[in-house]
Amino acid sequence: SVDIDDQRGRLLVPGFIDTHVHYAQTDIIASHGDQLLDWLKHYAWPAEMRFADDAVCREVAEFFLQQLLANGTTTACVFATVHQGSVEALFEAAAGYRLRLIAGKVLMDRNCPAELQEPWQEGAARSADLIERWHGKDRLAYALTPRFAPTSSEEQLVSSADLLGSRPGLYLQTHLAENRAECDWVAGLFPEARSYLDVYDRAGLVGARSIFAHGIHIDAADRQRLAAADAALSFCPTSNLFLGSGLFDYPAARAAGIRVGLGTDVGAGTRFGLPATAAEAYKVARLQDYALDPFEALYLATLGGARALHIEDRVGSFAAGKEADCVLLDYNASPLIARRTANANDLAHKLFALLMLGDERAVAATYVLGEKVYDRSRK
Ligand code: GUN
Ligand code: ZN
Repeated sequence: SVDIDDQRGRLLVPGFIDTHVHYAQTDIIASHGDQLLDWLKHYAWPAEMRFADDAVCREVAEFFLQQLLANGTTTACVFATVHQGSVEALFEAAAGYRLRLIAGKVLMDRNCPAELQEPWQEGAARSADLIERWHGKDRLAYALTPRFAPTSSEEQLVSSADLLGSRPGLYLQTHLAENRAECDWVAGLFPEARSYLDVYDRAGLVGARSIFAHGIHIDAADRQRLAAADAALSFCPTSNLFLGSGLFDYPAARAAGIRVGLGTDVGAGTRFGLPATAAEAYKVARLQDYALDPFEALYLATLGGARALHIEDRVGSFAAGKEADCVLLDYNASPLIARRTANANDLAHKLFALLMLGDERAVAATYVLGEKVYDRSRK
């Protein structure tokens, strides 16, 4: 005999993949008033200073992972802080849920508060130590994490590239061309570079396992280079709108053949959920005369993210042999969603309404490797 688990009125999809998020910014989500560079000074950096305390790291890491699971996210690419303990706490907690996590220690050796800076040699040594301890353990992988070009010397970027090549499967995550003032700053700091992307390219950081968040203010040559290198862009629409950074050109990235995933970019992003993130991606694409198909929106939140992270052989769809990370979505999550989805006459329109309207109430359950790790009814 078999057990029947009747889930009529629900939709089982692959676990969501967040290709860019900052766990240490959980407590400053939705902070008012600034664009990127002031927002970093006023909110992000002060928040990250608290992670010198291991107890803070552990408490926030646990809350953050609960948020991921409650939103159906089963894979994430995460920035910790400059503190080694912030990475330890995150990996430790993720291992407990057997979550697929890519994460790394932030590297900064200039242009930021003294408390968050270290000489590049120390950042490299601590990164190497973390790689040794965590990279490749169960479902965990390490990402070299120079924050962005303005806070790294050229030596720090080059040493990150050396480490990136030191073990198979390592990643590089950073920010790229998010904000106009940031781009002007980078042009002044690296006058020899052709573009912001070229700063990373000259250091040897543009490769198949590189994930660049934002990539708003880039040109056709940059897009060609990203595609040729098989590098990925993380499209972070809630963050890009919240900070007024600009409109990511998804149609151009798609046409260039670049791997693109969605990123929540919390705490500059305003939602942990990939459905809400996909809804904002739809609106941004709509402004660029592109109608993101409902299934393409779901693709970006799942298999697209897996491809961006080069783990499409493991997760992102229900193909045979993949790991059973999944999320059960609820067409009756709220009276409005129930009413609207009942009034949709095919799967595409039902799915679209659910993505556009759904918050964490739409997640009935989340499964990691086939085990239920979150159940909305047992909160
Ligand atoms: N650029 C450099 N650091 C950050 C960060 O923490 N958040 C965002 N959105 N952009 C950045
Ligand atoms: Zn970010």
